[in-house]
Amino acid sequence: MDDIETLGVVGAGQMGRGITQVAAQSGYSVMMFDVHEKGLEMGYEFIQNQLAKGVTKGKWDQRTATESLERISKSLDMSDLRDCDMVIEAATENKAIKFEIFRNLDNLIKDEAILASNTSSISITEIAAVTDRPGKIAGMHFMNPVPVMKLVEGIRGLETTEETFNTVETVAVNMGKIFVKANDVPGFAVNRILMPMINEAVYTLSEGVASAEDIDLAMKLGCNQPMGPLELADFIGLDTCLSIMEVLHEGLGDTKYRPCPLLRKYVQAGRLGRKTKKGFFEY
Ligand code: CAA
Repeated sequence: MDDIETLGVVGAGQMGRGITQVAAQSGYSVMMFDVHEKGLEMGYEFIQNQLAKGVTKGKWDQRTATESLERISKSLDMSDLRDCDMVIEAATENKAIKFEIFRNLDNLIKDEAILASNTSSISITEIAAVTDRPGKIAGMHFMNPVPVMKLVEGIRGLETTEETFNTVETVAVNMGKIFVKANDVPGFAVNRILMPMINEAVYTLSEGVASAEDIDLAMKLGCNQPMGPLELADFIGLDTCLSIMEVLHEGLGDTKYRPCPLLRKYVQAGRLGRKTKKGFFEY
């Protein structure tokens, strides 16, 4: 392994719990932190169930599942992260929230610790600037579902040091992931390409080109995508898709990134996709 032994994960939502599970299965001691007790408990139970399911499916044995779970601690108190060698932030995709978390973590954890963000679109350079350790900040963008998807997109902020970026890459590789390097521009590489495709699918729907079912079927059967773009949008969360499109639109200043009004309308209506059981489809 590398110098990193204890990882902190901020957020027990769909990304945080996946990161926690994979890190623990890869031998790291992980402290999963969330401010919401219910969310923290749900995240922990989800990991417990996933580890048990893996045993039933023959993916790993009971001992591995038990040992992985034993490596996970949970906390509602951020100061419990103080001894972590590295913290991966996977909180809500909101600038103000992330800035506050990074300010607090910066004051709390040891000077040599690395802080990584799982942000899907917020500038790593900007996040780094709210701390006194900009060289030790990097992006570590996991894909959902984390245990299944092989990619970690590594984002180097303006001040990220070579040493920090190499350590982040080592941790990702130790977690069984393939590390792709991207520069700190809005959307990085994955969402620069993925989100305009999803947004275009929403325009295709709103202009009546085809039904939601047919748009997805066409992309699944015609382009070999595992999920159609509208189902994928529901899976990611329509609020997240909208916020990433807004970052692309504002950050790159090109009208081709204009969020589709139908996407905005769905978010305003509280149709956020799978998590609210209703988006482009019902669940
Ligand atoms: N956690 C852990 N494992 C999961 C899982 C989860 N939440 N969901 C599915 N799996 C596992 C299943 O256990 C199953 O494993 P085995 O084959 O070993 O039994 C495997 O994934 C396949 O699952 P299913 O058979 O239930 O379903 P499927 O074949 O339809 O696959 C899927 C589900 C993997 C999600 C697939 O539909 C897929 O790859 N979809 C696209 C996902 C994608 O594009 N993700 C990236 C989104 S973008 C992003 O995350 C970044 C961003 O910034 C927005």
